[in-house]
Amino acid sequence: MRGIGKRFGAVRALTDVDFWVDEGEVVALIGDNGAGKSTLVKVLAGVHAPDAGTIEFDGDLVGIDSPADAQELGIATVFQDLALCDNLDVVANLWLGRELVAGRALDEVGMEQRTWALLRELAAKIPSVRIPVASLSGGQRQTVAIARSPIGDPRVVILDEPTAALGVAQTAEVLNLIERLRERGHGVILISHNMADVMAVADRAVVLRLGRNNGVYDVADITSETLIAAITGAVDQSGLRPGARPAATPAEADDEAAPPADAPIIPMPPAGSRRRPPRGRNRP
Ligand SMILES: Nc1ncnc2c1ncn2[C@@H]1O[C@H](COP(=O)(O)OP(=O)(O)O)[C@@H](O)[C@H]1O
Ligand SMILES: [Mg+2]
Repeated sequence: MRGIGKRFGAVRALTDVDFWVDEGEVVALIGDNGAGKSTLVKVLAGVHAPDAGTIEFDGDLVGIDSPADAQELGIATVFQDLALCDNLDVVANLWLGRELVAGRALDEVGMEQRTWALLRELAAKIPSVRIPVASLSGGQRQTVAIARSPIGDPRVVILDEPTAALGVAQTAEVLNLIERLRERGHGVILISHNMADVMAVADRAVVLRLGRNNGVYDVADITSETLIAAITGAVDQSGLRPGARPAATPAEADDEAAPPADAPIIPMPPAGSRRRPPRGRNRP
């Protein structure tokens, strides 16, 4: 996503935002309330049309004008309210809208077997796949919502605050699920307020502040204090596009928004550089 802008009436939710995610990478999207995180992923999910900017997928310019367009490209979203059907069981929720059929009937056995296989692969702990999801705990419901996302073999999975309502043990399980998604080769976008989660599971962290980029960090290089400084604005890098390099000396800095020269900013890959090698899809 390059130079993304989005207004809601007088509110500028996003201004000139750059963002990218690679295969097999977990990118944390972080920022204070109102920073524009949800708006950015909704642009990617086809919920909101951007007013400015472009989106590339596998190096090609694409238009994502609807959730169906996003789904077709292979962008799956787990929304914060989970969007599960409480009265249906785990199998029915996982395969909702993508049911397997055998002849003219639903292939219940096939769906159940593949559900268990998927839950095993994700190391997800669900006691039974034939109970209504209403009777599951919060962590188990989150697990079902996340386990649903790889069905259809998406390229990108977006998780909006997946651990916000969870306890310690449940959070650990969801972080584990996120690592399994990465192992399967999905690109994962993790929106989170929890710096411990971000430091534990993300490869890269993208900070938004007041609707603008405010730093892109390799999580291995930093501590959570660095992220908090960027989130709160103690470090202001909004004048610096992710593709730019910090000025070498204060004299070279064009304005007061210049970051410290050692700010670990990861450059945005150039246009068209993420072209996918012609080797078909990873998985059946
Ligand atoms: N549908 C909408 N209509 C009007 N304003 C919106 C809408 N969605 C978001 N906003 C505004 O855009 C800004 C960014 O919001 P949002 O993307 O939800 O931030 P975050 O997810 O980082 O908390 C906020 O000022 C918010 O009030
Ligand atoms: Mg939000």
